Amino acid sequence: MTTTNDAPKTLWLGRWGFVLAATGSAVGLGNIWKFPYITGEFGGGAFVLVYLACILAVGVPIMMAEISFGRRGRGSPIDAIRRVVQESGGGGFWSLFGWMAMLCGFMILTFYVVVAGWSFSYLWKMLSGGLVGSSVDDMAAIFGANNANPFNLGAWSTLVTVLTMLIVGKGVQAGIERSVSWMMPGMVVMLAILIGYGVYSGGFGEAFAFLFSFNTAGLSSEGLLAALGHAFFTLSLASGAILTYGAYLPKGHSIARTTFSVAIADTVVALMAGLAIFPIIFANGMSPGSGPGLIFMSLPLAFQAMPFGTLFGVLFFLMLSMAALTSSISMIEATVAWLTDNKGVSRKQASWGVGILLWVVSTLAMLSFNVGADWTLGGRNFFDWLDYLTSRWMMPLGGLGMALMAGFLLRNELFKEELGLSNAQHALWLFMVRYVSPLGIVLIFVDALGLASL
Ligand code: PHE
Ligand code: NA
Repeated sequence: MTTTNDAPKTLWLGRWGFVLAATGSAVGLGNIWKFPYITGEFGGGAFVLVYLACILAVGVPIMMAEISFGRRGRGSPIDAIRRVVQESGGGGFWSLFGWMAMLCGFMILTFYVVVAGWSFSYLWKMLSGGLVGSSVDDMAAIFGANNANPFNLGAWSTLVTVLTMLIVGKGVQAGIERSVSWMMPGMVVMLAILIGYGVYSGGFGEAFAFLFSFNTAGLSSEGLLAALGHAFFTLSLASGAILTYGAYLPKGHSIARTTFSVAIADTVVALMAGLAIFPIIFANGMSPGSGPGLIFMSLPLAFQAMPFGTLFGVLFFLMLSMAALTSSISMIEATVAWLTDNKGVSRKQASWGVGILLWVVSTLAMLSFNVGADWTLGGRNFFDWLDYLTSRWMMPLGGLGMALMAGFLLRNELFKEELGLSNAQHALWLFMVRYVSPLGIVLIFVDALGLASL
């Protein structure tokens, strides 16, 4: 056990490799596409506050646990959890959380490639001058037309699927993750330019108040659950991504420091995205609750109006597409690692196999925006169900499992070794994973299921 523990199969490139990879996984469409639109749907301030609290009290402690699981168990979530639990004398039941994480990563990817396809198609529209229009209605019409033809939309999601599986199949993720070192600062600059535009052209004050007036009317139970789920989604937790990347992390790197830098970068990008997008929404009289098309229907208006707008727009959608890819490759690494470790297949074979299944399911998700729009169940189409099940239920439940394993089931020395914190810091972390994170998750579940009124 100890010898394999010290010899990961793949090492990240250089000292910053893991930080870049984990940041690349975390920062993605979740920050720039999803955070603004669900914040808009759930009414702003109170949602943002709960989301930030969940990042700190639930996301950060659980991320530290997940990376420890990965590095200790050196494998896919299923294998790593089994090994780590065994080391402490626990039973096979807990591997279920590994299975659920792996399935969750796959399910997220099936709708993520559709959204990434939007980003790629908007990059193309920017380059080819296809984004002209002077009103929100014009932009809504362009977004709608892009979705209406399943062959057009399907071509873009297929492109993302192929790129993702090609990168993972060749095992060149580390090279791709390097792009994070220019893409992340680039994205921050682009968002700053958009924020500057909002300050100059109006709507910034309203946007700021919308996002940060924390004491506005209460948040619905659904909003609470969404904020919790989004904390997991945005940090790539409970979906195999961070755990599997942790399996490639050499000993001696500080897990706590990495966790904090990833969480801070992720939060900064999300809040900046909110401050960049909402001024445009308010200045153009668009509704914050316009749904998944929110950024695609608002940002192009700003790029058209500002100096060098086409250049900035191209750069923005280029970086957004790259950010989506550095996230998508992390979602499927767990499954590919599990197949290669357990089923005697090569990385390339595993990727093609998973890729075909992914293509089928993601095509069904893509159809939710055109021919399959009416294929609904309980008011949700297939795309909505994939998002709803993963973010609202599977990830928080998986996180609860992680926290309970780390807090109660496993030998504490194991985490002392992996985390290498001072006694006081360790006690604080343990208190968080034992009580604060699980209790937070359980309370929000109880509330969402309406059990509180029983
Ligand atoms: N964290 C990514 C984002 O914000 C999404 C993601 C979820 C990546 C789960 C990996 C695993 O876009
Ligand atoms: Na994120």
